[in-house]
Amino acid sequence: MKVAIIGSGNVGKALAGSATRAGHTVTLAAHDPQHAEDAAKATKAHAARSNKEAVKDAELVVLAVPADKVDEVVGALSSDLDGKVIIDVTNRVNAQDPGQVLDGSSMAEQIQKKAPKSHVVKAFNYAFASKMADPNADGTKLDAYIAGDHEPSKQKALQFAESIGFRPVDAGPLAMARVLEGMGLLNILLQIKHNWPWQSGWKLAGPTGDKK
Ligand SMILES: NC(=O)c1ccc[n+]([C@@H]2O[C@H](COP(=O)([O-])OP(=O)(O)OC[C@H]3O[C@@H](n4cnc5c(N)ncnc54)[C@H](OP(=O)(O)O)[C@@H]3O)[C@@H](O)[C@H]2O)c1
Repeated sequence: MKVAIIGSGNVGKALAGSATRAGHTVTLAAHDPQHAEDAAKATKAHAARSNKEAVKDAELVVLAVPADKVDEVVGALSSDLDGKVIIDVTNRVNAQDPGQVLDGSSMAEQIQKKAPKSHVVKAFNYAFASKMADPNADGTKLDAYIAGDHEPSKQKALQFAESIGFRPVDAGPLAMARVLEGMGLLNILLQIKHNWPWQSGWKLAGPTGDKK
């Protein structure tokens, strides 16, 4: 698949590395084009000079920027996102006052409203970048829960998740992004509270139809 990743930080680099390993063609963008260049060199991806250039030919657009930059990035891309599958990995984080971000909405649904002709899916936000680079823990594949309203786009995201080493799980409609974003926040708060090493992802235990 042709994959554009907007954001060349922890997540952008991790997903670029696992995606190129899986044989995908990846183009990275960043706020500073030099950061995209550096990340592309490290991950065998290509670098774009702008977000527009990155998404031009992409089938999948991964949004890996800080939550407070999403409006600006999606707004500026505007119709360039029409018809594209957007994988939203963003999280809103407020470790001091989690209730402030657990407000019943989700980043993914906001993005879908802002780019109504795109097809947004929520994925990967509940795993740390280290696990996006290597989605295994204790010898098992971690789960990639994928939520979205447009079936073909969700199927594409499920395929992508499987190709990079996750166990793909259809998590229902885009509204389920509210839960997935809560799972992302919980994973973060657990690391802080218990001084854990920021290496965990999610795996549902018990019979789920797949022993992998
Ligand atoms: N880190 C994790 O383990 C993790 C896990 C799950 C979800 N997330 C979520 O994923 C998102 C990215 O996290 P991260 O840790 O990768 O952040 P990060 O390391 O701070 O990287 C953010 C990237 O976004 C780029 N960016 C900022 N504004 C931009 C713009 N206008 N156009 C293009 N690129 C822009 C930055 O560009 P420059 O390099 O030029 O500054 C940078 O490359 C966040 O929403 C975070 O909550 C993170």
